[in-house]
Amino acid sequence: MNLLSNQLTMQRFCSSGLVRHFSEVLITLWRWRPRVKKNLGTTTTLLLFLPLLIATAFISSLWNSDTSNFSVHNISRNKTVIIVSRKPQNRPPKRITTPLNCVKNQTQTCPTNYPKTSQTQKSISDYSITPTSTCPDYFRWIHEDLSPWKVTGITRDMLERANQTAHFRLVLVNNKVYIHKYKQSIQTRDVFTIWGILQLLRKYPGRLPDLELMFDCDDRPVVLSRDYSGPNNKGPPPLFRYSGDRWTMDIVFPDWSFWGWAEININPWESLLRELKEGNNRRNWIDREPYAYWKGNPFVAETRRDLLTCNLSDKHDWNARLYVQDWILESKRGFQQSNLASQCAHRYKIYIEGYAWSVSEKYILACDSMTLLVKPYFHDFFIRYLQPLRHYWPIRDKDKCKSIKFAVDWGNTHKQKAQEIGRAASNFIQEELKMEYVYDYMFHLLNEYAKLLKFKPVAPDGAVEVCSETMACNANGSHKKFMMESLVKGPSITNPCTLPPPYEPKVLGAFYRRKLNAILQVQKWEDRYWESLKKQ
Ligand SMILES: *[C@@H]1O[C@H](CO)[C@@H](O)[C@H](O)[C@H]1NC(C)=O
Ligand SMILES: *[C@@H]1O[C@H](CO)[C@@H](O)[C@H](O)[C@H]1NC(C)=O
Ligand SMILES: *[C@@H]1O[C@H](CO)[C@@H](O)[C@H](O)[C@H]1NC(C)=O
Ligand SMILES: *[C@@H]1O[C@H](CO)[C@@H](O)[C@H](O)[C@H]1NC(C)=O
Ligand SMILES: *[C@@H]1O[C@H](CO)[C@@H](O)[C@H](O)[C@H]1NC(C)=O
Ligand SMILES: *[C@@H]1O[C@H](CO)[C@@H](O)[C@H](O)[C@H]1NC(C)=O
Repeated sequence: MNLLSNQLTMQRFCSSGLVRHFSEVLITLWRWRPRVKKNLGTTTTLLLFLPLLIATAFISSLWNSDTSNFSVHNISRNKTVIIVSRKPQNRPPKRITTPLNCVKNQTQTCPTNYPKTSQTQKSISDYSITPTSTCPDYFRWIHEDLSPWKVTGITRDMLERANQTAHFRLVLVNNKVYIHKYKQSIQTRDVFTIWGILQLLRKYPGRLPDLELMFDCDDRPVVLSRDYSGPNNKGPPPLFRYSGDRWTMDIVFPDWSFWGWAEININPWESLLRELKEGNNRRNWIDREPYAYWKGNPFVAETRRDLLTCNLSDKHDWNARLYVQDWILESKRGFQQSNLASQCAHRYKIYIEGYAWSVSEKYILACDSMTLLVKPYFHDFFIRYLQPLRHYWPIRDKDKCKSIKFAVDWGNTHKQKAQEIGRAASNFIQEELKMEYVYDYMFHLLNEYAKLLKFKPVAPDGAVEVCSETMACNANGSHKKFMMESLVKGPSITNPCTLPPPYEPKVLGAFYRRKLNAILQVQKWEDRYWESLKKQ
């Protein structure tokens, strides 16, 4: 089945939707008639209510993209009509798959029958089975990240200036993707980032507007706010990357590892998330080692080498159990020692930044263990929403050992609370950072970004189109494996979640103050703890 015939099936399905829905409302009404009569006593009242009922049902059907999910329940004496959304039963939605058309012995080409934007937009919204829900709160930072261009928009000049450090330019025109590669990125970061965007297009075909963007795959943000604060500045260049900090304006985007990290054998996020959940069920929090665990590469940052001084030794036990990850050795052994799901064996897990933010963050938070978060300076796209004492325990950057020692002692004497913090973080990761939401985040970020563009995106001269076929069919080894595993099978049968509005500045200010207060609170407890030990 090719895309075009999929389109036709979808449209046929949809055109009958409203008709079917309406007859369903009438049937429901008819079924309810006797009960209504009993409740209200007279048929006259029923007749009075009937038009109101139909009108309400009809209006509700207009509001919602899926018209067949409503039934009218209970008409009580106080004249309230309750319309309840009903779970769809017996009628599984028809999933459409978009096959990957690999050709043998020929140059791989891209499909030519991409859906027209308007066509898919209509059919998908009619087709989707669940009423749209609001996206998680961390999506609100999309507005914050794009705020530097809110007034001015993004001009071509601003975009072109982002070429200085970019690894590639991505152009999306009429659903086709073109890549202009400027330079080699670390490992396969660029490959899997582009792959991720192509999967987004398979998930929501024809629903992304034309756009051009520059992507920098390195760790540290580079667009300094202070360079663009004066009155006559030319406007900051919009540059996408995986992490940002307080002093820069880079736009944060989900990192490559959501589609797999081939070099160190980390699976795509969707399957890894399942493994992590199973891993958590294998070992209860209370049965885990009552220490703080970390395993990683200490040679990428001073702060990590500093952390190693907290390891168990003849002189000290700071409650920390720290290990060096030797990736070269691990890769020779087939990565048996680095299975992430089996690393959830301690009640506390330390997260510490490397050269910038670290990909390990989401794996650590997913463990059901209480995360001890060493004061971070960088952020990815979701971490800003997480709160100290609710999702993690804050650890001082200086004096890490004392801070860790206290955190573990506190947790082992407040087991209930420590477990709750661990659980809150892993629930957040399992529920709000599942792959659907990662795609929805990309969807909204790119849509909002494209709204700001003041120029018409054009495919670069002589650029070659890139699609899932050109990337996956020619890949081999773990690249191929991860690509096939994270391949989006076909268009989504549900709409993306609804983007929440920006935070009011006051609300955002209060949010950050609450966060800071919680951190200060912990520091106070910590200082008191060490003072009381000194006195003894
Ligand atoms: C309808 O609502 C009334 C009052 O709230 C309740 O007593 C009654 O059981 C409900 N009937 C049905 C069928 O849910
Ligand atoms: C009207 O009835 C509904 C359901 O029976 C109930 O939930 C609601 O509180 C009632 N309202 C008033 C004002 O009594
Ligand atoms: C591909 O080409 C090779 C030689 O170029 C040939 O031996 C093989 O049969 C071809 N395979 C297909 C599926 O056409
Ligand atoms: C970036 O773009 C400017 C013009 O917009 C051009 O002069 C410069 O050569 C480009 N730099 C790179 C590294 O492509
Ligand atoms: C930390 O201490 C443990 C236990 O003594 C040891 O096995 C481990 O190798 C140490 N880690 C480092 C990085 O030295
Ligand atoms: C896989 O691809 C790489 C280059 O992309 C190539 O060097 C290597 O030989 C290929 N391996 C196999 C088994 O085809």
